[in-house]
Amino acid sequence: MTVMTKPNTNDARAVLAAPSLSPVTIAKPDLISVEQAKAMDVARMTDLFKAHLNPGQLHFMKLLGFHKIKIESAEGMYYVDQNGRRILDFFGGFGSLALGHNHPRIIEARKKFQDEKRQEIAIAFMSQYAAALAHNLAQISPGDLDMVFLGSSGSEAMEAAIKIAERAAGPKRSKVVYAENSFHGKTKGVLAITDGQLYRGEFKLVDNTVRVPFGDIDAIERAFKSDPEIGVIILETIQGGGGIVQAPAEFWQKLRALCDKHGVIWVADEVQCGVGRSGRFYAFEHYGVVPDVTAVAKSLGGGKSAMAAMIAKRDIYMKAYGTPKTAMIHAAATFGGIGEASITAIETLNVLYDEGLIENAAVTGDYLLERLQALQAKYPKIIKDVRGKGFMVGLEFHDFSQTLPMVLRPVVSVLDEKLKGSLSGFVGALLLRDYDVLVAFTEYNRNVIRLLPPLICQREHVDKLVDSMDDLLSRGIVSIVKDFVKSQMK
Ligand SMILES: Cc1ncc(COP(=O)(O)O)c(C=O)c1O
Repeated sequence: MTVMTKPNTNDARAVLAAPSLSPVTIAKPDLISVEQAKAMDVARMTDLFKAHLNPGQLHFMKLLGFHKIKIESAEGMYYVDQNGRRILDFFGGFGSLALGHNHPRIIEARKKFQDEKRQEIAIAFMSQYAAALAHNLAQISPGDLDMVFLGSSGSEAMEAAIKIAERAAGPKRSKVVYAENSFHGKTKGVLAITDGQLYRGEFKLVDNTVRVPFGDIDAIERAFKSDPEIGVIILETIQGGGGIVQAPAEFWQKLRALCDKHGVIWVADEVQCGVGRSGRFYAFEHYGVVPDVTAVAKSLGGGKSAMAAMIAKRDIYMKAYGTPKTAMIHAAATFGGIGEASITAIETLNVLYDEGLIENAAVTGDYLLERLQALQAKYPKIIKDVRGKGFMVGLEFHDFSQTLPMVLRPVVSVLDEKLKGSLSGFVGALLLRDYDVLVAFTEYNRNVIRLLPPLICQREHVDKLVDSMDDLLSRGIVSIVKDFVKSQMK
C-alpha cells in the first residue's frame, strides 16, 4: 500500500532528525494533484477509501460490485466507467439529480459565473444570487411560504426547520411529533426525529419527541389531545428511507385541519420527494394543502452543487426570528447562499419549468409504475408490491424464503429477518453487472429497491430498466443466487 507517506510527527526522534527549516518555510506534504486524482486507478482508490474514508463501507460495495467501477464521466441519464461502459442511472444520487448529470445549461451558467469572477461567499455584503434564489423559491411555494433559509445539505435545512418551528411554537409547546420509519438526516438535532436505530447509534439525543405510525391520523389526534405540550409535527410527505411509503390520500387534509385545531406547526420534509420528483414541485401539492414549514435540498443543487433551503410561512418566521434581537439566532452559516451554488439552483429551477420536467416526472413516472406493475403480475411470487408517485418508486420483494421453491421455504424462512435485503442486493448487483443498470437500495425496509431517476428520464430508459429486470427475474431465484455467488468469487 502506498498511503503511509505522512512523517510520524508523534515520534520525537523523527521530528529532531528532520532537516531544520526556517520558521517561514513550510514543506509541502505529499499531496495528490487534481490531475493525479482523475488518473487514479481502482486499486489506489480502494486503498485510499480504506485508509481515509470508510473501510467498513467497502464491504457493501464489494457485495454489490461497486468497488470495481471508476466513473470517468457522467452525462444525462448515464455514468461512463473506466472501460467506456455506459451505466443507466436509476439511483439518481438518492434523488439529487433532477436534471441528470452535467446538464448543459447548468455547466454554462457556472462557467459564465466563474469567467465573470463573481463573488462567492455572501457574509459581509448581501448577495443578489441568494436574494434571487429566495425569491424564486417563494414564487414556486404555495400560500405564504415566503421566508427562505439557505444551507448546504438536507440535514442542515431540516435542522433549520425544526429550530424555526420550535421557536415559533414557544417553550410551552416544545414537543415534536415524528413518524415511524422516518428519515430526516444524520446531524445530531434531526437524529432525534430520524427513526433508525442504525443511525441513532447510542448517541444522547434530545427527548422532547413523540413517535407515531406514519399516515395514522387517529394516532396523531390521540397524541395532540393527550399532550398539550406538542407544538410541532414533522413528516416526510413520501417516506423515502422507509421504502417509498405514502400516507392515505385523505390523510393530509385531515392533518392540516388537526394542526389548525390544536395550533400545531406542520413541517413537511420534501428533501427527497420535492423539486418536482413526485410530479408536482412539492409532493404535498397533490393533496391541496400547505404546510407551515418545508425543506428541499438534493436536486435543488442541479446535480452540481450542495444547496438546501428551508421555507417557512412569514408569520412563523416573524415569531421565531423577526426582530433585530432574534434575527441572528439562526442566520445563514458560512456557506449559506454561497454564490455559484445559488446561481446553480436558480438555473435548476428555471430548467425544471422550461423543459417541462415536473410534467415528465408525472407522465413518464406513471409509465414506470405501469410497467413495473405488469412485471409484478408476471412474477407475483417474487415481487410483493410496486408503489410510488412520479419518479419516486419502490419495488418490494417478498421475504427471501417466499421466493424460493416450496421445498426450501420452511428451512430458509427462519433466516428471513437476517436475509432482508439479500434479494434486492442480488438483483441490484446483477442489474449492474449484466445489464449496465444502476438502482438504489433502502435503509429500513431492505426488501425494497428504490428508483429515483433523473426527471429527464424517458420511456426508452424505463423500457431498458424493466426489460432488464424481466430478463434477470426470468432466470429464476436459484439461478440468480448462483450467478451472484459466482460474481463474488471473481
Ligand atoms: C427525506 C430526507 N430528509 C433529509 C435528508 C438529509 O439530507 P442530506 O443527506 O443532504 O443531509 C434526506 C437524505 O436522504 C432525506 O431523504
